[in-house]
Amino acid sequence: MGKVIVLRIGHRFFRDSRVTTHVCLTARALGADGIIIADRHDKTVESTIREVAKRFGGDFSIESGKPWRRTILDWRDMGGKIVHLTAYGLKLPDVIQEINEADRDILIVVGSEKMPGEVFKLADWNVSITSQPMSEVAALAVFLDWHLENHAFEKVFPRGEIRIVPSRGQKNIERIG
Ligand SMILES: C[S@@+](CC[C@H](N)C(=O)[O-])C[C@H]1O[C@@H](n2cnc3c(N)ncnc32)[C@H](O)[C@@H]1O
Repeated sequence: MGKVIVLRIGHRFFRDSRVTTHVCLTARALGADGIIIADRHDKTVESTIREVAKRFGGDFSIESGKPWRRTILDWRDMGGKIVHLTAYGLKLPDVIQEINEADRDILIVVGSEKMPGEVFKLADWNVSITSQPMSEVAALAVFLDWHLENHAFEKVFPRGEIRIVPSRGQKNIERIG
């Protein structure tokens, strides 16, 4: 499988910080390699996610402020494909095989407020999860789970400081090293 980066478009300070943080956490936990928060620098979200990655491990990258159009065009120039998650796109089950068999680096675009119409044209696939409006966090989670074919638990997060030990009845964290 190629590299997977999420592009978050339309992030607004304060108002969207919590949801954007959840987009980042979900992307990281479900196997994406990184996230780009387009157009606006948000050092607070960046440092929150870097701290999580430092404690729990892995190589998740985060940057903010790069213009969304430039990000998409650069990605295409490097041979990557664009998946735009939108309620108006084709049904996920109808396109996931084609996306996975393409076996290319993919940029997954998710919005916040209204998405620029140009994104629909730049995308290789406009993909819908259920053809109903929903949260970008939920849409991203479902897409990544299908893309990874339910193997998220197998992802390794090296060089962390702590690890969650699955437990039936208590919060259990183990220090590493
Ligand atoms: C809460 S929605 C707001 C969309 C905005 N009202 C509009 O009309 O463009 C934010 C983002 O969630 C994602 N999203 C929402 N529903 C979706 C669905 N059913 N399938 C895929 N992505 C979805 C899209 O990326 C969208 O830009």
